Amino acid sequence: MATAKAHTNIALVKYWGKRDQDLILPHTDSLSLTLDEFYTTTTVEFDDQIDADAVSINGEPLSGKAYDKVAKFMDLVREMSGKTEFARVTSENYVPTAAGLASSASAFAALAGAASKAAGMELSRRDLSRLARRGSGSATRSIFGGLVEWQRGVDDATSFAEPIEEEVDFGIEMLAILVDTKEKKVSSRFGMQQSVETSPYYKLWPEIVADDMVAMKRAIEDRDVDAMGQIAESNALRMHALTLSAQPGFTYFDADTLAAMDEVKALRENGVSCYFTMDAGPNVKVIYDKKDRQVIYDALAQKFGADRIVVSKPGPGIEIWD
Ligand code: DP6
Repeated sequence: MATAKAHTNIALVKYWGKRDQDLILPHTDSLSLTLDEFYTTTTVEFDDQIDADAVSINGEPLSGKAYDKVAKFMDLVREMSGKTEFARVTSENYVPTAAGLASSASAFAALAGAASKAAGMELSRRDLSRLARRGSGSATRSIFGGLVEWQRGVDDATSFAEPIEEEVDFGIEMLAILVDTKEKKVSSRFGMQQSVETSPYYKLWPEIVADDMVAMKRAIEDRDVDAMGQIAESNALRMHALTLSAQPGFTYFDADTLAAMDEVKALRENGVSCYFTMDAGPNVKVIYDKKDRQVIYDALAQKFGADRIVVSKPGPGIEIWD
């Protein structure tokens, strides 16, 4: 039996598209910030008395597609470790409000940590990152804290994450505006594949990401939070252009997403440096330097309600224990 705690991460340069669906090998590198406020704790216990994996999240048994993903991942761990028993997988998602921003990134990173240890494997952090990748691409990066890069690699052995700065010693912070906490309508898995296969703009995406990766790493080296925000915002908008330009086109934005984007722009027009990013759902994340936290928080709390704003500092990497 083993337990692991992993934090979620938000990409500043997005992963959007796979060239291998089974191994989850991405078309591009990506870069993220691990967040302190959002995490998953998962315990895995192998048990020779059960005839299928038993999975629960926040006390509720998991079923359907979500269960199948976890069971497939556990099959992989059994194949790697030689273990034959099924397991009890008990997971808790810690999010500061009732719902929203629960993420496959922290979920599969924590599962990789707990399952591999419970199965008797002592994996390096690099190999843990490779294993987490097989559950969900973004989980690759949640093994590490702070600013993290996922190198796309050329095969299973070379596609893993590495920390850029595990201990972030400058002011970058992120706050989430939880505009909508319902299940997402189009999964990221389906949405990115649809973009790869049908958007005429997808061929430009690898070039965009390559340029953004270089610029983002330079901005990190320079501790230039403003430049980091600018690059992240433009990268996010270009990612979302791939969904709008798919066939049929779709979007993760709703009216509140656009209102939040406008509010961030209005703050900027008033001289406050802050930028937005969005993922496969309507919630908006705001990137800023902590010196500007209060003024940004006050403006957004007034507009959307304080209960919908969650401020997060950079968070740590995975922890695993018996
Ligand atoms: C928009 O990691 O959820 O958050 O690999 O199919 O499980 P799968 O997708 P997932 O996609 C994340 C997409 C994103 C951008 C990112 O995190 O880089």
